[in-house]
Amino acid sequence: MHAVGIVAAAGSGSRLGADRPKALVPLAGRPLVRWAVDGLLAGGVTEVVVTIPAAHRAEFEAVLPAGVLVVEGGATRTASVRAGLAAADPAATAVLVHDAARPLTPPDVVARVLTALAAGAPAVVPVLPVVDTTVLVGEDGVIAEAVPRAPLRRVQTPQGFDLQTLVRAYAALPDGAELTDDAAVVRAAGVPVITVPGDERSAKVTVSHDLTLAELAVTLDGPSGTVAR
Ligand code: CTP
Ligand code: MG
Repeated sequence: MHAVGIVAAAGSGSRLGADRPKALVPLAGRPLVRWAVDGLLAGGVTEVVVTIPAAHRAEFEAVLPAGVLVVEGGATRTASVRAGLAAADPAATAVLVHDAARPLTPPDVVARVLTALAAGAPAVVPVLPVVDTTVLVGEDGVIAEAVPRAPLRRVQTPQGFDLQTLVRAYAALPDGAELTDDAAVVRAAGVPVITVPGDERSAKVTVSHDLTLAELAVTLDGPSGTVAR
């Protein structure tokens, strides 16, 4: 399957609070964006587009492997993915949209998403169950009700799509509409989204504690198997 990866890496990482854009922050000596790109390639994606903050092109180009296409992202994740999609090879059959902020996503997860697409699914997301009791809390801070947790899932990336399905869904999305992930974009266009098992190692790096945990995971578990360091 000819699958192109889009890595959203144009955010600043304000909650991480590092001295550089989050995607350039090193984990075990390798920038988060490089981990994310290597994981996609190891899982079966054949080419990658990375969306970056415009002011940092040289730093990104210096750390990405040859052949990766670097394009300027936008002010929001939605705008950044739009820019990446516009640069993706239109001859590809599938597209996987991934966050640079999920550096340790195992290649197995990427392969599961690709397998579901090859079997004909138009849209696929990796998910995990919710293990904590989950409740709705009112503005007064008092629990209003408990949410039945059995059907709840946490959604991760990479999210996979038939390329033309995602292109059409973004084209139909009104300018300025901001959705938090790409599954929401295709769902807004009426496309069913199937799920495959995600992985705790795909956890998103948002605050500095997440980076501490990721460093520990690399030290104790190794880099999910396939990526040579
Ligand atoms: N992203 C992007 N373009 C944006 C905003 C975010 O490509 N304008 C990317 C980020 O680089 C990240 C992914 O979307 O890989 C998920 O976003 P998030 O974790 O929120 O990263 P940041 O927006 O950089 O972090 P923060 O919200 O703390 O500023
Ligand atoms: Mg953000």
